[in-house]
Amino acid sequence: MIKSRLFALALLLAPALAAASGGESAMESSQIDLTDKASLQRGASLYMSYCSGCHALGFHRYSRTAEDLGLTKEQVEQNLIYGDAKIGENIRTGVNADDGLAWFGKAPPDLSVIARAKAQGPDWVYNYLKSFYIDESRPLGWNNTVFPGASMPHVLWELQGIQHPVTEAKHKNAAGEDEACHKGEYQGRCITGFEIPVKGRQTPEEFDRTARDITAFLAYVGEPGAVKRESVGVWAVLFLAFFTFLAYLVKVEYWRDVH
Ligand code: HEC
Repeated sequence: MIKSRLFALALLLAPALAAASGGESAMESSQIDLTDKASLQRGASLYMSYCSGCHALGFHRYSRTAEDLGLTKEQVEQNLIYGDAKIGENIRTGVNADDGLAWFGKAPPDLSVIARAKAQGPDWVYNYLKSFYIDESRPLGWNNTVFPGASMPHVLWELQGIQHPVTEAKHKNAAGEDEACHKGEYQGRCITGFEIPVKGRQTPEEFDRTARDITAFLAYVGEPGAVKRESVGVWAVLFLAFFTFLAYLVKVEYWRDVH
């Protein structure tokens, strides 16, 4: 009896547990927490300083950001809005598509839904921000192991420092052919990691937090309702568990007379 009850409970909780353990991903986990308002606020501020010059968030209004992140209208106007935009407007950029094309060879895309657009979700953005390295063969001098050949410069280099790739010779398979590199290629060799000979203003741990905060902000922007929905989900599961227990008590009560 107790066993079957536990089993029923386990069945009920299974989806929640599966969701908590997350999907498989070869990338480093961003460990973003959409309920952490301080992280989202830092992310919004970093985004406005370092990213909004090129990338718009065309589906997102400043006013919504204020509301969701617990900021006042004044705080948003003073700290997040550059230029003459109004708080009710969408977050646009100073770069128009033609200039972007001319300057970078590629127009910087709108990032409203970027954290959902990639198969790895927000983790992709987090790993991308951490994976810029110096590569003289590229027009802007930067390359990226997560997005090889990306035409975006490393805008956070002053914080992170300048990463140089650490490489090893390509492995050969049994037939003597080169095997593919896992992390990307540099000058015909495989990248195994990075070193930072020119240090930035932040330690690696601090820069992880910077990348995490920006990623969290972009994940929030991609799904502003997600914070609310997740907390509703927890209550729904708790309710179901409680309801099962009630139903069990009712059953015991009914069968008492039958026996
Ligand atoms: C100087 C302009 C510029 C700035 C500033 C800039 N980017 Fe970019 N970004 C680009 C360009 C250009 C691309 C397109 C790269 C390509 O497709 O080769 C891009 C691409 C991206 C992509 C990949 C988009 C996709 O569709 O795959 C992400 C994510 C991104 N940027 C995030 C950021 C973040 C976060 C910041 C701020 C920390 C930032 N960018 C700052 C120019 C910029």
